[in-house]
Amino acid sequence: MAGGSTTTSAHAGSHGSSGGGDGASRRDFLALTGNALLAVGAGSVGYAFVDYMNPSADVLALASTEVDVSQVAPGMSITVTWRGKPVFIRHRTAEEIKAAETVNAKDLPDPAVDKDRVKKKELLVLVGVCTHLGCVPLGQKVGDLRGEFGGWFCPCHGSHYDTSGRIRKGPAPANLEVPAYDFVSDKVIRIG
Ligand code: FES
Repeated sequence: MAGGSTTTSAHAGSHGSSGGGDGASRRDFLALTGNALLAVGAGSVGYAFVDYMNPSADVLALASTEVDVSQVAPGMSITVTWRGKPVFIRHRTAEEIKAAETVNAKDLPDPAVDKDRVKKKELLVLVGVCTHLGCVPLGQKVGDLRGEFGGWFCPCHGSHYDTSGRIRKGPAPANLEVPAYDFVSDKVIRIG
């Protein structure tokens, strides 16, 4: 017998003198009570889980990553982890920069001009999480598919990002996110 039925019969026993005519409705009520308790229990577990997953503000404030980008040559990409997410850093070639700059932003699904997405045009920094359902797009490794616009390609459902990380084709609704970052020096960036 399932757990819900056990709860029902235990409660029914304690109210056995109430007569049989309303037995069915009482059972319904008790079954509902059991389900409600189950729902509250599940909600509490869910809350505890979400609360545990949310780090406090001071932990978040510390969660920055410094990266030496001096060895990232033109055409190279590296991936670092920041707050548990992959961050793509690409040293763009002149062709990639030109391709990103010559697009009319108004024609894009998520309009954005390239210069607003970089601090130095050679270095593009992106959160490497597809804005559709969260896969990690391809394009970081040599030989990876980069999609029709030469940036990144998400094979999960076919989203194509350009050399500015902007969505150009496919189901993703938004551009790859540019995280908060700064140049600590010519060679080092701090993400976060
Ligand atoms: S998760 Fe990237 S296209 Fe669906």
